[in-house]
Amino acid sequence: MSIKITWYGHNAWLVESEDQKILIDPLLNDSPTSPVKAEDVEADYILLSHGHGDHVGDTVNIAKRTGATVVTNYEISLWLAGQGIDAGHTVGMNPGGSIDMPFGNVKMTDAVHSSSLPDGSYGGVAMGMILSTAGKRIYFACDTALFGDMKLIGQPLDLAVLPIGDLFTMGPADSVEAVKLLQPTSVLPCHYNTWPPIEQDAEAWATAVSSSTETNPIVLQPGDSFTL
Ligand code: NI
Ligand code: MN
Repeated sequence: MSIKITWYGHNAWLVESEDQKILIDPLLNDSPTSPVKAEDVEADYILLSHGHGDHVGDTVNIAKRTGATVVTNYEISLWLAGQGIDAGHTVGMNPGGSIDMPFGNVKMTDAVHSSSLPDGSYGGVAMGMILSTAGKRIYFACDTALFGDMKLIGQPLDLAVLPIGDLFTMGPADSVEAVKLLQPTSVLPCHYNTWPPIEQDAEAWATAVSSSTETNPIVLQPGDSFTL
């Protein structure tokens, strides 16, 4: 069974696998590059990496409308309860923890990044995530610096999704180093070109990945899909 992964710009992704729709960090209505509006997406699950507004995005409204379960860190799960999402529709985790889901398994990883919520509430720690679904293993680094323990996340990894925007996360050069540690079969870039401070040349990054690793870089445009 194949997995369809669609980029909605920034770090917003829709993963369709095992008859489930999984949204990641759904910044849609306030994203200048998203091809869809929050009112138009469906979701069974929303995976939320950390509390920053460019990741929480439309999580609350989409969860309320669709009844999707939000899988995030413990502190954000408590904050979501205060936003009117009942505890039965949230899962609060922490890095290193994993949970079985109808589509497979989600394991939260470290991320070197901050996590305050849009209203200033404490948002716990930022996380990346490993999705194991339909026989594949996918790593969403989400917002993070390069860190050496990425070597423990890789091998084997069918796909890695890495930020390249710089300023708030890894930039292109550190992202190439991350590919060397992770050794995924394929890699997708994200968290760039949403706003001017994180403008990057993704084609130049892809050329650097191809020339220095065995990994296949795939540069999508917002709205494009990749089938795994
Ligand atoms: Ni962030
Ligand atoms: Mn961000």
